[in-house]
Amino acid sequence: MATLELIHVTKRFGKKVVAVDDFSLRVEDGEFLVLLGPSGCGKTTTLRMIAGLEEVTEGRILIDGEDVTDLPPRKRNVSMVFQNYAVWPHMTVYDNIAYPLRLKRVDKKTIDETVREAARMTKIEELLDRYPSQLSGGQQQRVAVARALAVKPKLFLMDEPLSNLDAKLRVATRTELKAIHEKTGATTIFVTHDQSEAMSLADRIVIMRDGKIEQIGTPDDVYHRSASIFVADFIGTPPTNFIDVEVQVRDDQIHLVNPYFDFPLNPENAAKLRDYPKRELILGVRPENIVLVSEDEAIFSTQCLVSEPQGSHQIIAIELDGKIIKIVAPAYPKVRSGETIHLNFKQEAIAFFDKDTGRRIE
Ligand SMILES: Nc1ncnc2c1ncn2[C@@H]1O[C@H](COP(=O)(O)OP(=O)(O)O)[C@@H](O)[C@H]1O
Ligand SMILES: [Mg+2]
Repeated sequence: MATLELIHVTKRFGKKVVAVDDFSLRVEDGEFLVLLGPSGCGKTTTLRMIAGLEEVTEGRILIDGEDVTDLPPRKRNVSMVFQNYAVWPHMTVYDNIAYPLRLKRVDKKTIDETVREAARMTKIEELLDRYPSQLSGGQQQRVAVARALAVKPKLFLMDEPLSNLDAKLRVATRTELKAIHEKTGATTIFVTHDQSEAMSLADRIVIMRDGKIEQIGTPDDVYHRSASIFVADFIGTPPTNFIDVEVQVRDDQIHLVNPYFDFPLNPENAAKLRDYPKRELILGVRPENIVLVSEDEAIFSTQCLVSEPQGSHQIIAIELDGKIIKIVAPAYPKVRSGETIHLNFKQEAIAFFDKDTGRRIE
């Protein structure tokens, strides 16, 4: 097990493509770190540089304090699991897991113990004599995980390992991966474009955008204290609602105003907007922080466009300023299309974003 440091790492492909741009990060021993971002933002390239499969253009990579930037993959003591399983079809499950250990000339008895231990962790003990063609996708991916675990790497790298599985299996397998991590405590860097997967698995999430780090934080940080519109929009389903507002100062109070509502901010929120009088900004409200209230408690009233029942709750859509705003409300009472509803914001949970920079104001 180990720590990992990336120090000002940049990767260029040719002259034009900057895949990873001045990326600095420290991963603690035993941490489960997730790199999250849309397709093309540089996640795979970052992982491949850590593994030594891709040269860095600038910067240094340290594993356990040792500079490995110029070391080949086999000298870095890391294991990687890919999206497409990459198990060897002509070998049994047992041999797939044992093979990297045989290459390292580990003795037979130790190999046998290690293979069985890895199989036990990943719950594939019954499958050791089978060939990959006799396994489901989920089982093949477990073999790949077992094989990676068996070499007891310093770092465990996974590139979208669940994305070829169907939705139900993906959710089940991620729970198992989390349990395996809790048992082994292996420092893990996990890449995904699926925010819900990232939220479930990560100790910390690194949200990437165009090769740069947009925010690093715990799942709670990135959800409740999103650093930018990009993050607030990327994390959570339905995503954060964004509403254009103007800041007005009246009767010694700071109000948020637009054609639909005008309400005074509580002192805590007002303090954040000291530098924004008379300016426009973007109000960010998560769907569960818009609440249905009685008419006299409302800051605005409108009609329900549609309501989608979800069993445990309903998702109500309204239209504001030509944009759809979504509200997560209790399942009952059921709101019907066309029904007038009265709404308020949970002030302790609203966020403000600068219109020009997209960054959170606090
Ligand atoms: N071998 C390569 N040659 C040229 N461009 C590449 C190469 N690999 C990746 N890229 C580019 O680098 C950027 C980041 O890619 P990648 O790391 O695969 O993103 P992600 O894994 O987040 O989808 C993309 O613009 C991609 O087209
Ligand atoms: Mg990728």
